[in-house]
Amino acid sequence: MELYQICYRARINWSGLRRDLDSEIDRALAQIRRINRRGGVTGALLLGKSHFLQFLEGAPGPVLDTLYCVMQDRRVTDLEAVFHEPATERLFPNSLMFHRNLASGAVIQTYPGLHALVDEQDRLTRGNGYSALACFSGDVRESGVTNGMMLV
Ligand SMILES: Cc1cc2nc3c(=O)[nH]c(=O)nc-3n(C[C@H](O)[C@H](O)[C@H](O)COP(=O)(O)O)c2cc1C
Repeated sequence: MELYQICYRARINWSGLRRDLDSEIDRALAQIRRINRRGGVTGALLLGKSHFLQFLEGAPGPVLDTLYCVMQDRRVTDLEAVFHEPATERLFPNSLMFHRNLASGAVIQTYPGLHALVDEQDRLTRGNGYSALACFSGDVRESGVTNGMMLV
């Protein structure tokens, strides 16, 4: 299957929540994974404090449709492409949407500075975006850890 990958950064606005942030994120992820399953899209969502980095991979049509869907979401603004290109294999093959909160204590201990990369860097380069993803894609592939989001 022809594979395409897109990585972008955007600002996220969680204001107007009807529930606490963790529940809102869980609800959004459940919905995102339901939609991604239909399109065979996998990827990762790394949340910082004000921004997030998202990586989408799959067949070109569904990946572009997914990006379009995110662009319609009123919580998302200031979207900037980090890279978009054909791919030979998936980085997150078993994850309908791998997720980490980069501002959480556990991630900060393991990867200090990673949330600053997503939140503060003027322009996120391809290399930095790829490095941020690589912190997790290796783990995901090697251990089969899927953060509760297996393609089952
Ligand atoms: C941070 C973030 C990441 C998202 N990622 C995806 C995604 O991977 N796939 C997708 O179909 N939609 C994605 N979306 C879009 C929302 O899931 C989409 O707007 C939502 O499904 C529509 O929800 P609503 O019916 O509550 O308006 C994302 C939205 C946000 C805020």
